[in-house]
Amino acid sequence: MENSDAELIEKTISLKQRRNAVILAHNYQLGEVQDIADFVGDSLELSQKAAKTDADVIVFCGVHFMAETASILCPDKVVLLPDKYAGCPMADMITTQRLREKKKEHPKAVVICYINSSAAVKAESDVCCTSANAVRLVEKLTDAEEIIFVPDQYLGNYVSTQTGRQMILWPGFCPTHIRIQAQAISKQKREHPQAKAVVHPECRPEVIALADEVLSTGGMIRFARETEAEEIIVGTEIGIIYRLRKENPGKKFIPASEQAVCPRMKLITLETILWSLEEMANQIKVPERTRLRAKTAVDKMLEGG
Ligand code: 13P
Ligand code: SF4
Repeated sequence: MENSDAELIEKTISLKQRRNAVILAHNYQLGEVQDIADFVGDSLELSQKAAKTDADVIVFCGVHFMAETASILCPDKVVLLPDKYAGCPMADMITTQRLREKKKEHPKAVVICYINSSAAVKAESDVCCTSANAVRLVEKLTDAEEIIFVPDQYLGNYVSTQTGRQMILWPGFCPTHIRIQAQAISKQKREHPQAKAVVHPECRPEVIALADEVLSTGGMIRFARETEAEEIIVGTEIGIIYRLRKENPGKKFIPASEQAVCPRMKLITLETILWSLEEMANQIKVPERTRLRAKTAVDKMLEGG
């Protein structure tokens, strides 16, 4: 480790204690960011952690919608997003105005939104979900005549195939996960015939069709720990490979695509974490009216998921 990194880490840890802050990091974060975090997890685990923390400050090492979810759940805490440009492009593929128009076309529909959406879109939705609990939550919507699923068409399509529910899908997608091609998975499978392939449900259907398991990032971490397979092809953002290798030194992890990088996730660095804690900069605060409406959808996710 470079000396400057050691200094950054030391300063961050002591400032974190002084501010009574907790550092939460998503599984796609840079290795050094995962290492300095108090907790690393998937979107659902991170919201559960944020909901329970007794820290005064939450430093969210992830993307904007994750920090907003923490603000929705913890209005009295200061939530910091170390880089204000760390937004999820998929979350920006829907606006409240266009969602309202869609709701007008389907006035009886229940709206389920992926957590990868803005607080304002959550406020227009009935239930929120993550990739870890989307199937379970849709299964519960037995009384719904119609369901609108936003904004990820691929997760929505996957949930449809698992639940047998037809849903109105929004045409959003993750620019990182669509870089993972079916041919790449097939090639890795030919080269590693004993390997199991795990992919994220944000992948295209033809990629999902080749997978042994379709899992959230937290699900992948558990699968890797529990499986007897010694080689695992990983179809998601490559930041997760760091944690998989760290926790399972005896196993081999093969990224399905080296191009599956989420540039916004990588904006969070040791430098930006320390800077935001020093300056208490980039505070994410959801306006109260929006927060209360969005919280109804997020609470249903936490209760049901
Ligand atoms: P997880 O909830 O599975 O960690 O996924 C978050 C995400 O942004 C996937 O691209
Ligand atoms: Fe958004 Fe995709 Fe990045 Fe996840 S990996 S934060 S869905 S752009």
